[in-house]
Amino acid sequence: MRIIRAKDYEDMSRKAAAVLAAQVTVKPDCVLGLATGSTPIGTYDCLAQWCKEGVLDFSRVSTVNLDEYRGLDHENDQSYYYFMNKNLFSRINIDPAHTHVPNGMEPDPEKESKRYEELIRSLGGIDIQLLGIGHDGHIGFNEPNSFFDKYTHCVDLTEMTIEANKRFFASADEVPRQAYTMGIGTIMHARKLLMIVSGEDKADIAAAAFCGEVKPEVPASIIQFHPDVTIIGDEAALSKIPE
Ligand code: GLP
Repeated sequence: MRIIRAKDYEDMSRKAAAVLAAQVTVKPDCVLGLATGSTPIGTYDCLAQWCKEGVLDFSRVSTVNLDEYRGLDHENDQSYYYFMNKNLFSRINIDPAHTHVPNGMEPDPEKESKRYEELIRSLGGIDIQLLGIGHDGHIGFNEPNSFFDKYTHCVDLTEMTIEANKRFFASADEVPRQAYTMGIGTIMHARKLLMIVSGEDKADIAAAAFCGEVKPEVPASIIQFHPDVTIIGDEAALSKIPE
């Protein structure tokens, strides 16, 4: 596990984008696992800028996203598909047919979970998975649990997550109560993991996840067992992790 200390959010974003850019450069037809939330927005800004400058070419890249709210369609501006399109896909030269997000409108959880797992397999697996972390230690939408959920599945969101994510909605009542998410097994099968973390409010969970006991009650702690993990955090987020 490599822990890279960035000065601030901008520095973290540039460093994370550089890791993803290196992946696209060495393997132009790579599969990028992508994430939503406020943390990766700066990373996506850098990638879009470098693509615009002609430094990066996404024409052969495929992407798979970690998760999607259940019941929100592509046109809904709170859906993760919409978020990805706005913050990244529409700003780079990627083929929209190569971008994949779980289908929040599929009513049958088993069908959608199976489809998404098969899709990832058919692409040859994920070369590098970008991750953020929730305040309760969730990755994707794998909430604290008594066991690690292996594959893509439908989850009930915790009150803490609904509370944290309500800032994107008109009110907490409008936050969907369920989501589709890659499982812990899906994430751990990625060849590389890139975790980004920013802000003082993430310092406690970052210390628990990256230095504490590995347990399903802190889902992100599992990444300690992955053979190729890079964590890039700003000073505030890593302040409770000794040098
Ligand atoms: C959401 C996403 C996660 C993300 C988390 C943290 O719940 N499903 O993938 O890591 O939020 O978001 P933020 O980066 O806004 O703190």
